[in-house]
Amino acid sequence: MTDFVAELDRMIGERKKMTSELYQTILGGKATERLLQNFVLHRWPIKSFWTRNILGIASRIEDYRLRVLLVENIYEEETGALSNSGRHLDTFADFGAAVGLTASDLENPPVAPETAAVIEHNVRVCNGGTHFTEGVASVLLLMEGQPPIVGGDGKSMLSVMRDVYGLPEKGYEFFVHHASADEGEDAVSELEDEHAAAARELLHRYCDTPQLKENAIAALANALELRHRHFDMILSTSYDPAEPIFRYGQ
Ligand SMILES: [Fe+2]
Repeated sequence: MTDFVAELDRMIGERKKMTSELYQTILGGKATERLLQNFVLHRWPIKSFWTRNILGIASRIEDYRLRVLLVENIYEEETGALSNSGRHLDTFADFGAAVGLTASDLENPPVAPETAAVIEHNVRVCNGGTHFTEGVASVLLLMEGQPPIVGGDGKSMLSVMRDVYGLPEKGYEFFVHHASADEGEDAVSELEDEHAAAARELLHRYCDTPQLKENAIAALANALELRHRHFDMILSTSYDPAEPIFRYGQ
């Protein structure tokens, strides 16, 4: 295998979020209130685990400089202090509030089997069950190296939330920082670019035997399959095109 990390990037690109009907429906401006609410509710348990997953990887990285990159990533994620915003998860809750969810809805979100399977995978590969490079490939790189979520018409999650669904600024702020700026800006935030670069460097440095590479590729293939089953579950249980399309304030 000549360039193992390029192979991981290729796999991620081939099954990027926009290949799922869920994201196509949302980006197409066709989402209903029930779909957007359930999108937040079902994504919430996975996102709630994110920082603990990345800390699990960080705890096993010997190299100080590379470890600091992950610590900075998580510090920003948990506090928003580096970008002068807030805790990233809170901005996702603000998105939920803009589509009609309450704080108590998010306290006890449903955990469907498809969601539990993603969480179990992420915990296993990041928090101790396997070599940490499986977590770097199938959780960190998968998320931070995600190609822009952009529809055929060049619309991003940010522009659709703002211009089509009509969310107020607080409701779309999450998308300013996450794979979602406009196409002219490459549609991925600078932070995510830096985080993906750290993931690639970790893989070059530590995923250095044929067996580790094979395991990392298998972990990523599994993660891709599980996340698409999770996306499909959200669409099939929460979307009926006969229901009215969501428009903020209507
Ligand atoms: Fe984030």
